[in-house]
Amino acid sequence: MLIMESFSGNTIHSEGHQYSYFAGNNYLGLANHPDLVKAANEGIRNFGLNFAASRQTTGTSTIHLELEKILADFKQQEDAIVYASGYLGNKILLQALKGEYDAIFADSSAHASIIDGFPSDISKIYFYEHRNATDLELLINKHKSIRPLVITDGIFALTGEIAPLDEIYPVAEKYNGLLVVDDAHATGVLGENGKGTPEYFHLEHAPGIFQTETMSKAVGVYGGFISANHDVIKTIRENSHVYGASTALPPPMVAAACAALRIITNEPERREKMLLNALKIREGVKNLGYNTTESCAPIIPILFNDQKDATGLSDFLKSKGIIAPFVTYPVKTVQYIVRITVSAIHTEQQINELLNALEDREKRRRETGK
Ligand SMILES: Cc1ncc(COP(=O)(O)O)c(C=O)c1O
Repeated sequence: MLIMESFSGNTIHSEGHQYSYFAGNNYLGLANHPDLVKAANEGIRNFGLNFAASRQTTGTSTIHLELEKILADFKQQEDAIVYASGYLGNKILLQALKGEYDAIFADSSAHASIIDGFPSDISKIYFYEHRNATDLELLINKHKSIRPLVITDGIFALTGEIAPLDEIYPVAEKYNGLLVVDDAHATGVLGENGKGTPEYFHLEHAPGIFQTETMSKAVGVYGGFISANHDVIKTIRENSHVYGASTALPPPMVAAACAALRIITNEPERREKMLLNALKIREGVKNLGYNTTESCAPIIPILFNDQKDATGLSDFLKSKGIIAPFVTYPVKTVQYIVRITVSAIHTEQQINELLNALEDREKRRRETGK
């Protein structure tokens, strides 16, 4: 495990050395942004670090309400709710939608938070082939679901692949179902305004689509959120145990998230820069002959059949001053992955150094067979 001594957003120090950091999910480079740091400090000054209370008791402040308003406006939804863990969003939403579906159909590579989020009293749970809408439809027909709930990651955490909502949504719609998209990696990243995978496929206003989202990746802060119609958010506020019986999101995080949302809305060029950086790296990786996925997402996996090749590459990059980790967690894959993640604040020099190091490694492998 890598132990960091400092983190600047695109570099880290570890064991006394500085490294270029192509890891984590700080896609827009907001985690160290001065506006967010200033807002967090103001949050501490005004409210301290923590109310040590749940939202339903005495843990709701004006800035929690302000953030929820900003998020609802950003997503053009009636309402929004924030809570202290993005991971729990799927559990919270699936509970809130209970009674509106009779079976769950999940992508076979769904994130662990989706699997953990299945309600314990739903027995009809089926997995369709990864990103395969035809298989999804076959499965729905086979199991004669009256009202299916289809659930998938928007961008898959390990591979950066995008779920084909343009094919999946029509299936959910045809069977009078709901579609839930875990957009942890797509908020602030995909779509014309950074509203995520539905917006990327021009489905942001389509009925029956819900997203679970996080503020701990592109937003640069921490905590989860759901935006939806008043009824769904009201159900969560009134019935969710996670929301009602866990400590409110800490005030400095809430204040920083408000600042982050302003930047995401006002500076679309950050998203464009991140996507350009991702394109440059993905094209470079492909041109060097490495195996990767087709996507525009800022997650660029290098895929290997042999674990030793993957750990070898990650170690080699580290010896060149670059962190790109060998990742196995948190979803099932059949291959071994070195995952490069890209941010809007990676410099051209850092990207060139990464691609040069990848070229060196490939040359050596060809020359020595190792
Ligand atoms: C697809 C997906 N969903 C949910 C989460 C959990 O979000 P958080 O880390 O904000 O709790 C993650 C990763 O952390 C993720 O990759």
